[in-house]
Amino acid sequence: MAAETETRRLGVLIGGSGLIGGTLAHYFKTKTPDEIEIRAPSSKKLSIRDAADIKNYLKRVNPDFVINTAMAALDSDAQLSFEINYLGAVNLARACCALDIPYIHISSASTLPSGENLTAEDQLPLSPDLNHYAKSKLMTERTLRYMGCEQGLDYTNIRLAIVYGEHDHKIQGFHRLFFAIADESMPCLFTKKGVLHSYTNSNKLPYFVHHVINNREEFGGNTYHFVDKNPVELAELILSIKSYLELKTPREIYVPFSVIKFGKYFLERLARFLNWFGITVRLPPELMFLENFYESQTLASDNLQASSFVDPFPAETIFTKLPRLVVYYLTRWGHLNLITTFNEEYFGSNELEDDFRLNPRELLKTIHDDSTSPFYDMVEK
Ligand SMILES: NC(=O)c1ccc[n+]([C@@H]2O[C@H](COP(=O)([O-])OP(=O)(O)OC[C@H]3O[C@@H](n4cnc5c(N)ncnc54)[C@H](OP(=O)(O)O)[C@@H]3O)[C@@H](O)[C@H]2O)c1
Repeated sequence: MAAETETRRLGVLIGGSGLIGGTLAHYFKTKTPDEIEIRAPSSKKLSIRDAADIKNYLKRVNPDFVINTAMAALDSDAQLSFEINYLGAVNLARACCALDIPYIHISSASTLPSGENLTAEDQLPLSPDLNHYAKSKLMTERTLRYMGCEQGLDYTNIRLAIVYGEHDHKIQGFHRLFFAIADESMPCLFTKKGVLHSYTNSNKLPYFVHHVINNREEFGGNTYHFVDKNPVELAELILSIKSYLELKTPREIYVPFSVIKFGKYFLERLARFLNWFGITVRLPPELMFLENFYESQTLASDNLQASSFVDPFPAETIFTKLPRLVVYYLTRWGHLNLITTFNEEYFGSNELEDDFRLNPRELLKTIHDDSTSPFYDMVEK
């Protein structure tokens, strides 16, 4: 059984406003309030680009562990990618080493080549040609391993594949693909038959991180692929989303990679051309991963399966999660006016919203008359 301590522990979570960090923060706040307290400073309070910030903050808070989920935006330049994804992570690890506490690092399948059944030991060769994101994540993994051996750093490296889950406010990765389908801006299949990928369920990750924190002997110094056991065919996933949303597109026509590559080249040129006229066009950063749509990348999770971690929702996969994701994201994108197709279906009529749009004066008067007194249950008696 886990070597769980009885005293309440304090953890620092970096990147708590992001997709992964937000999910972890919510988990610890709601599921472990008596066991673990989490401080999740924003990047304004603690920027990991600044080593002094890291040292001062961690010295003051004196945590029992640190979890790092920060990352620079995918299309950041070399300096930002290096400073946040690499130097920031290494400086956090150095601070953890000094305080003699565990460092839990979130990494990515971008450190891996394409291929099937890739193991935790696999890695891309470090070369100048890698994109900034992959290069910085890969260098971090290497330095953590080095510091584990040379400095006795107590770390765990958790590699995520394609993440699915609620609260991706930046619409990245899988959610960008989902958005393109829901927005009917994907006419055909930009993949080929049989291309498989691994997926990570963001809601399950906090259970694993919690378990890893409680079982340092077992999980220290190792890399884990935190992915669903079975890989998923991209075409099957796209067609499932399409049929779930009852859309006509994308049609089941597989567009060859050469055509897509030309399209990408054309769009990049067009964006540059429009820039001359002061029109700023930003292409989705995911375009850098276009090749991955045509190549399988599946991550073996043998060491995860063989570990003492028990999947809290073994039946949950990206397919079983689709209905909830559809409701969550279509509602959100509808509210943000990003998509209008499904609005009637997902938003019932809301009286207050109608008054806000059509009768703001009456609404204001009603609120002043009925709803501005101090909250009764908060007033000290
Ligand atoms: N999402 C995926 O599909 C995916 C897939 C594989 C691996 N991963 C890995 O999962 C981790 C989290 O990704 P995510 O999708 O949650 O990212 P995200 O939503 O883009 O969030 C990034 C977080 O990093 C923080 N951050 C940025 N610069 C910082 C700085 N200088 N100092 C401190 N914090 C800073 C941001 O805080 P502010 O908002 O305050 O700037 C934000 O909270 C990353 O390591 C990523 O490589 C993600």
